[in-house]
Order: sequence, then C-alpha cells, then structure tokens
Amino acid sequence: MKITVIGLGYLGATHAVVMAKLGHEVIGIEPSQAKVDTLRAGKVPFFEPGLDEALAEVLAQGNIKFQTAHDENSAQADLHFLCVGTPQVKGSNAANTEYLFSAIEELAPHLRADAVVAGKSTVPVGTAGELTAHLAARTSFAPHLAWNPEFLREGNALQDSISPDRLVFGVADQRSEDVLRAAYKPVTDAGVPLIVMDIPTAELVKVAANSFLATKISFINAIAEVAEASGADATKLAEAIGYDERIGNKFLRNGIGFGGGCLPKDIRGFIARADELGVDSIGKFLGEVDSINLARRTRVVTLARQELGSLAGKKITVLGAAFKPDTDDIRDSPAITIASELTAGGANVVVHDPISLPGVRVMYPSLATEDNLTEALRDAELVILATEWKLYRELNPADTKALVKTATIIDGRNYLRLDEFASAGWRTIALGRNLAN
Ligand code: UGA
Repeated sequence: MKITVIGLGYLGATHAVVMAKLGHEVIGIEPSQAKVDTLRAGKVPFFEPGLDEALAEVLAQGNIKFQTAHDENSAQADLHFLCVGTPQVKGSNAANTEYLFSAIEELAPHLRADAVVAGKSTVPVGTAGELTAHLAARTSFAPHLAWNPEFLREGNALQDSISPDRLVFGVADQRSEDVLRAAYKPVTDAGVPLIVMDIPTAELVKVAANSFLATKISFINAIAEVAEASGADATKLAEAIGYDERIGNKFLRNGIGFGGGCLPKDIRGFIARADELGVDSIGKFLGEVDSINLARRTRVVTLARQELGSLAGKKITVLGAAFKPDTDDIRDSPAITIASELTAGGANVVVHDPISLPGVRVMYPSLATEDNLTEALRDAELVILATEWKLYRELNPADTKALVKTATIIDGRNYLRLDEFASAGWRTIALGRNLAN
C-alpha cells in the first residue's frame, strides 16, 4: 500500500519506519526541513534504540521517503496517518489539537475520495468527530476518517510497534476498517489481537490506558508515603501484591514518579475534557494521581534540605536527566524538576546524563551539566539518583566514596544496590523504604 505518515516526531518517525518495514511504500511528511534532512540521511532526530538501523534498512530498500509537503505522489496514497503532536496548552490542563486541524487543512486538497485518514495522536475524546467535520467541509466527498491509537513506549518503540499487545481501530465505515486491516495484515497475521470499535471509544482507550498506568504508579507512591512514615518497605510490598495476577507486578515501582511527554500530559488532558463534558469523578480522581506524582519530586527536595541543613552553596550531583532510561526525552522529567528546584534553592547542582545533556542545555540553560561522570561526582555533598541508567548501577561504591565530599546518596528510583553502598560507608536513603538508615 502507499501510505503517508504526517508529522515525524517520536510517534510519526517510528510509525513511518515500521510501516516501511512491513513492506508498504511510505512517504513521511513533516514541515521541518531540518528533520526531513536528518531522516533522509538515515538518522532519527531523537534517541531510540535500534531505530537508526531500521531506518537505514528501509531507506536502502527504497520503501520510504521524506518530504516537507504533500505532492502528486503522496496524493495517490490509500492511507494517511496523522501523527502530529498534541502538547499540553501552556497554563491549562487541556491538550492542544491545533496541529491536527492544520494537518487536515493541508491534506484536504490532496486527498483521494476512497483514501482513509487514520489519526494516531493522543486526543481528547470527540476530537476525531470535529476533524471529520473540518475535513468534510474541505472536500467534495464524504471522507473516511478513523482513529488508530498508538501504545508504544519510548526506549522500546520498535518492538512495541511491530509486535504490540493489541491493535485498536476506531472506525465509522467499512472502507476504513478494510484499509486499516490491510495495512496491519502482517501484524495481525502474527497473532496480535485486534479490537474494532467506534471512534470515540478508540480515542478514550488511549487516555484510559495511560491514566490507568499513571494510577498504578501514584498508588504505589501513595503507599510509599505510608511506608516512609511507618518504617515499612514499599518495594517489598509491591513485590508481594504483584504476585496476585489481578494486580500484576508491572508499573508498581515507587520513586520520584512518572514524567515524559505522555502520562502527565494525557491525564491532564483527560481532566480538562471530562470537565468540558460536565463529568467530574474522573477529573477529581486523576487530579489526585497527578498531585501524588508531583509530591514525590518535592519530597526529594525536602529530603535534600533535611540532609544538608541549608542548600546554599552545597554541591549536589543529580544522576540522570531523562524521564526514564534509554531515551533522551527530558519532557516533564522528574529529574529536571528536582535539579531545578534544588538550584533555585541555592544549591550548586550538577546534572549528569549519558545522552540527554545537549537537550538539557538548550531547554534549561540555567542548569549546570557535566558529561564526565567522575567530574560530576567529584566533591559532591549529596548524590541523587534520578534516572535508572545502567551505568549508575555499575558505580563502584568505594571508588565513588573516594570522589565525593560527603557520602550520602538518595536513590529516587529504588534502583541501586544500596546495601553495597551502605557496606562501603555511605549514608543511603531510598524512597518508600529505608529513610531511617
Ligand atoms: C507511555 C505508555 O507506557 C505507552 O503505552 C504509551 O504509548 C505512551 O506513554 C504514549 O502515550 O505515547 P512512555 O511515556 O514511553 O510510555 O513511558 P513509560 O514507560 O510509560 O514510563 C512513564 C514514566 O513512569 C517514566 O517516568 C517512568 O520512570 C515512570 N514509571 C514507570 C515509574 O515511576 N514506575 C513504574 O513502575 C513504571
């Protein structure tokens, strides 16, 4: 099939490569000439394991090309995927859907009457209906618009796209279902479950899934607060309750909480839409999930203050800037909030991360960064583990102790072997467990 993928950010670039890998003829469309040039050169404009190699492969096969606008060739496509961003509106919980509407306006004059437009971006329920009306007002025929949410995780994007837990098609007509089925045939042939539903349900599936994942994390973080106050261990507790299959052991790691471009934005967007719909329980519920999550960042700042007395002039090393390992994404990263609040409090904070520091320097120029881990740790009066990068787990506690000024470490992710740090003479603090050590 001939397919366009409109918007080549994280979601779009990955999806374009995956569709090409499945054997389709893919045209990636993205207004930024710089992004298009990077992709044409065989590089994705962000860090994602395996994706550069997969892109090189499909480029070499001639299955993919990139351009800044639609043309006669892209107008022949059977299927157009909308993958543009829906970021949080500044100063509001709502998601900004304007890029979807402009994408529709640019696509309309190039759309074949029998082509299908499938939205993949995460949107407030009801958006697809508005987009359909917007598109219909710009075409001489009734357009086929469908919703096909994406569930990939950063750091695992390729695997999640080629072999997802499930596919969801939100459709309003048979043609949309048939074209989407054809596009994903290799995936469904491999046994991936497909659930076909109406469009509003498909829009809601995505935000409901992310809200549930966020809820699990905030649940265990709320338990962690109790554990800290009572001398219990929330990590052991999570292990014990996780054996119950109805609960499951995933997304129960307590620590400094969730960040990134999806979970925080999606629960807030859901709160905003529920409010517009006049429904209030989910908003109250998710508002609590959001505040429990943000409180964990503040908790680390409070602990640092308690440890150091005053923050003024104290050297604090923050290990990690990305919102999770195996990505260079620093959007809404707990590590960045903590480093920024400590810096604002007068501490001399140094942030280390194996790959995301170039982005930190652009987005947060007031934060001090250090590429060299040894230099970042030298003379530290407090070390805070904020992202579970493997190289931090490989730190030798005795060697690291010789570098720092005061051997105190806060493990914000319950990731390090703190018993080894304690044996080497460190004062260790782990969220949700041994705060008293
Ligand atoms: C999330 C969802 O997991 C994907 O299914 C979804 O497709 C994606 O959002 C999206 O909407 O595009 P992602 O943002 O890549 O994926 O990150 P996650 O792996 O979900 O992690 C989110 C955050 O939760 C990270 O900051 C991570 O450190 C934190 N987390 C995760 C915890 O604090 N505890 C846990 O037990 C698990």
